[in-house]
Amino acid sequence: MHYFEYRHGELHAEGVPVARIAEEVGTPVYIYSAATLRRHFRVFDEAFQDVPHLVCYSVKANSNLAVLHLLAREGAGADIVSGGELFRALRAGIPPEKIVFSGVGKTEREMEEALSAGILMFNVESLGELETLSRVARRLGKPAPFSIRVNPNVDPKTHPYISTGLKKNKFGLPEEVAYQAYLRAKEDPYLEPVGVDCHIGSQLTEISPFVEALKRLKTLYLRLREEGLDLRYLDLGGGLGIVYGEEEPPPPAAYAEAIKQELRDLETTLILEPGRVIAGNAGILVTRVLYVKAHPPGPEDPEARTFVIVDAGMNDLIRPTLYQAYHQIKPVREIPGGETIRADVVGPICESGDFLARERHLPPVSPGDLLAVFSAGAYGFVMSSNYNSRPRAAEVLVDGDRFFVVRKRETYEDLVRLEELPEGF
Ligand code: LLP
Repeated sequence: MHYFEYRHGELHAEGVPVARIAEEVGTPVYIYSAATLRRHFRVFDEAFQDVPHLVCYSVKANSNLAVLHLLAREGAGADIVSGGELFRALRAGIPPEKIVFSGVGKTEREMEEALSAGILMFNVESLGELETLSRVARRLGKPAPFSIRVNPNVDPKTHPYISTGLKKNKFGLPEEVAYQAYLRAKEDPYLEPVGVDCHIGSQLTEISPFVEALKRLKTLYLRLREEGLDLRYLDLGGGLGIVYGEEEPPPPAAYAEAIKQELRDLETTLILEPGRVIAGNAGILVTRVLYVKAHPPGPEDPEARTFVIVDAGMNDLIRPTLYQAYHQIKPVREIPGGETIRADVVGPICESGDFLARERHLPPVSPGDLLAVFSAGAYGFVMSSNYNSRPRAAEVLVDGDRFFVVRKRETYEDLVRLEELPEGF
């Protein structure tokens, strides 16, 4: 569900014609819809309204300050994985007591920053990290609230790069190791066990792996409570999938129902860390066609190849290249006639892996046309880079019939701002 719709053959972001934004701000440009973000957050949050819960939006999905601020105003907490994300979340007005800190490689400095800020809890992923956390807490004279991220060894049935809850993945600790660590931590005045945590993967389109993981988490939670640990939180992570193409992920209400069913009789506050399901379909990437070229069939390749060369590349949106991800692509101004071409939509980067789509059926587009790449609101801009010395795209937030540039397009000066020639060189 989103508010990017065609009106009289022209794609609109809420009340604003997308072409107008592209004219004024240039391309490539990420466009986010405030109404869609709000709606996604509310639908997700309301699905859990009858149980104590906290939705900690996963900042890594889209960390633009305006997006975070909008979600903060909706009551969202944050799931962060770095000091940088902590900085952004606080700057955007997310209260520290609604922030959980995940990630396998937290540094002492990051722990210090988060503990001083007064976050809700650390989601600890190794025994070494737990020791370090205790040391940092002692130094600051402030006990650290924590959960251990359990690796429940459940197959989330998603792309291997975004599957995290299998034993072969680097994340979390096996249940038994976690159990022992909790018991030891109980004796440490600077470690305060407050919950259990897991996150099994991303873009899940089935409910059963979540339920499976939750069952294991619940068993551990109850065992630890029996040992006298005052646990209050059960953090199930994020991972609910969205529609990019043909997927049929469960709606948040069905997902919530299954979880609540499993949690009945358990006294706890449920924490959820959704990212993609909030931001994914709330954003598009708009790019302009630069050239269209065809390679005619030849003896070594009997097929003709058409390339639509656009001004956005893998540095702007890496998902198609990195995960073979499908993103729907449509012209911003509908092209009448129903005719299609089959083409690769490629960027300007000097790599054959630089594509947004392969062998895609598109209307016959021409240089100058604008294309919208859908479902780009999560893991889009945040994963972009300056490869090939390309300034990163602008980001725009639409709200009703107004739009705001919420991150300016980078300039050439930005590209070299932190670089210096050694003196006397
Ligand atoms: N919590 C933790 C601990 C996570 O590692 C993640 C995502 C989330 C929550 C949010 O998951 P979501 O609800 O968005 O599925 N770049 C990849 C996705 C990587 C996800 C990493 N962790 C992609 O573009 O598909």
